[in-house]
Amino acid sequence: MSTTVPARAGSLPASLRHFPFPFTDDVYRYSTNVEPAGRPVATAAGQWGEPLVDIDGHYREELTERAEILRRDPTRHAVLPHMRVAAWDAALTLLRELAAAYPDDMTLTREADGRWRWENRLLGLTQRFVYADDASLPDEPLRWVSGQVQEDIVLLDQRDQLYGDAGVVTFAADWSFGFDVGMSFLEIHGPVPRIRQEGVITRAHEFLKRLQPHQPYRRTNWTLTVGRRLDVSTETYPDWGPDRELVQQVDNETFGRLVHLRVEVQHLVRLPDSGSIMFLIRTYLVPFEDLVAVEPWRLRTAMVLAELPEDMADYKGVIKYKDRAARWLRDHGTRGGGEHPE
Ligand code: HEM
Repeated sequence: MSTTVPARAGSLPASLRHFPFPFTDDVYRYSTNVEPAGRPVATAAGQWGEPLVDIDGHYREELTERAEILRRDPTRHAVLPHMRVAAWDAALTLLRELAAAYPDDMTLTREADGRWRWENRLLGLTQRFVYADDASLPDEPLRWVSGQVQEDIVLLDQRDQLYGDAGVVTFAADWSFGFDVGMSFLEIHGPVPRIRQEGVITRAHEFLKRLQPHQPYRRTNWTLTVGRRLDVSTETYPDWGPDRELVQQVDNETFGRLVHLRVEVQHLVRLPDSGSIMFLIRTYLVPFEDLVAVEPWRLRTAMVLAELPEDMADYKGVIKYKDRAARWLRDHGTRGGGEHPE
């Protein structure tokens, strides 16, 4: 996926320079699409992909939004009783990753008495804790650590199959963590068209069961969202569902401002102590009016949307406005912005 970064990439906003543009072809189909994590990916606008946990300019704002959602709706967080060890495993793994990726802002140290000391200078926070001692943190450990990262987190227990038995998910794209918790990996993917018949999900399941500690993988997923709205979960459908109708009526300028390409970078990590799998979902949103600054992205996204089969468009919730979205992109060329689409 290596590409030539255009000369004017430096003048693009960080949201584009680090945007994980998901399309590698003019036609999109579901696939297992996993690759080893950690390798930077060059794009037509810059680069993404180095850290497992990614902090950007929306850090505080998104953490505040997550805290508010959790306060309003406690079902976005669950840790089934047998997942306590995995929750601690996930918390320490995430803190280690943050400290390694952002040493200027975050430090994790082991003190002489065996306690851990976490310092997050971006939040002005210092927290001491004893590993696996729930009373040493102000909150359940998974919920607490979800206040340090922008990623949503799901933990899967591996028995005969993988089961989504814990998590904190506040930014779900049209699904419900509270409904899915406790389900198997195959059940969770039940609503997705094609993937069972095409063997995508059984291959993914076999792959995940063999995942090794310290060898994280990643994949991307995408959809469209109306407005810069992270929380498009089933629970809040009445707040955002009607926008899919309303966006058809707005003028062209408003359409480009409202419609966002929504990309999830998903990391898959085998946790070292518990053996559970940690699934991280980091969501990025770029409005079409900004996306068109990168010419190859404009053209490719238009092609993908125009070609997207009905069942996939319907499942993604974009069927009513994806043809207008494709036309809008075709009609809004700005020229320049790179040679290659990735
Ligand atoms: C949806 C594939 C891992 C949870 C999907 C979709 C695909 C997919 C193709 C449809 C997305 C769309 O059209 O927008 C995969 C593959 C994986 C993987 C290939 C691993 C290699 C996981 C894991 C979880 C998960 C580990 C954790 C529980 C979900 C959920 C949905 C989804 C909740 C939405 C389902 C709904 O509509 O209710 N996945 N996935 N996925 N995936 Fe995965």
